[in-house]
Amino acid sequence: MQSSLLHSHSGLRWILLLLLVATVFSTFGKRSGKVAFTAQDKKLSLFTLIAAHLQAVLGLGLYFMSTKVDFSSTTMSSPVHRFFTMEHTLMMLIAIILITVGYGHAKKANAKKVFTYYLIALIVILIAIPWPFRTALSAGWM
Ligand code: HEM
Repeated sequence: MQSSLLHSHSGLRWILLLLLVATVFSTFGKRSGKVAFTAQDKKLSLFTLIAAHLQAVLGLGLYFMSTKVDFSSTTMSSPVHRFFTMEHTLMMLIAIILITVGYGHAKKANAKKVFTYYLIALIVILIAIPWPFRTALSAGWM
């Protein structure tokens, strides 16, 4: 159970990153309002929102099962426990709130706000992912 959750959570990161980058690119040239924010753009930002919320559900499931989440007196002195118990989860929750607020602006066809919220969320997510090159966190590419 935990292993399939972990694989889904790890793999879904790529879909979410792809959708986020696509939304940021598609709204970039529309910030001034001179080019219309289309139904297609709204759909793209909706799919990004759905992927982000799904990722949060999988992540919260893992939060209650993972051995990398720990509440003890040593949590903060262990890089792996501190990262997954606090840093990863808090930053990802902030990113998901930003995407949710950004989608609210997609409903009002405000490309500039969608661009800004989704771009900041993308940066936060890129920082909070346990990339394999952060070797202390021992997470994979897939
Ligand atoms: C509120 C949202 C989230 C929570 C609560 C959460 C929680 C967790 C937890 C507890 C783990 C450790 C699992 C383990 O190895 O035992 C984990 C791993 C991971 N999370 Fe999240 N996560 C969230 C959002 C995200 C998002 C938005 C992304 C990326 C877009 C992401 C990407 C990853 C990756 C890549 C791993 C490592 C998987 C591996 O070991 O291969 N997480 N997450």
